[in-house]
Amino acid sequence: MSLMDQARAVRLNAHAPYSKFKVGAAVRAAKGTVYVGCNVENVAYPEGTCAEAGAIAAMVAAGETEIAEVAVIADCPTPVPPCGGCRQKLAEFAGADVKVTLGTTDGTMFETTVGDLLPGRFDADHMSKV
Ligand code: THU
Repeated sequence: MSLMDQARAVRLNAHAPYSKFKVGAAVRAAKGTVYVGCNVENVAYPEGTCAEAGAIAAMVAAGETEIAEVAVIADCPTPVPPCGGCRQKLAEFAGADVKVTLGTTDGTMFETTVGDLLPGRFDADHMSKV
C-alpha cells in the first residue's frame, strides 16, 4: 500500500466529532517503517491533536527519529495544508528536502517539501549561543 493509501486508511479512524474534519497522516521513517496517525479531538477543544502529531508520536515511541517521507489527506476542496504547529513538528524530524504529499479524498495530490512548508525554520542552530 502506498504511503498516501495508508494515510487514507487511518483517516477513517479519526475522532473528529466537533469539527467533522477527519485527517490521516503517514510518515515513512528512515528504516522504511511507516507510522500512521489521525486527528483526535476532545470536548475540551484545545486538547485535540492533529493527525501529523499522532504519526510522529508513534514513530518516536517506536524508537525512530528520522522522517524520510510524509503523506497527509483530508476531505477538502484542495490538498490539505498542515497547520503551522505540524509544520514545526515535521521539521523536528525531517530535513528541508523531505517530500510531503498533500491530498484530497477525491484524489487531487500536491507534492511539496518540509522546507517549502516551513521556510526560515527555527532550529537548534538558533540556540547555539546558549
Ligand atoms: N487537522 C489535522 O489533523 N492536521 C492538519 O494539518 C490540519 C488540521 C485537524 C485538527 C482538527 O481536529 C481538525 O483538523 C480541524 O481543524
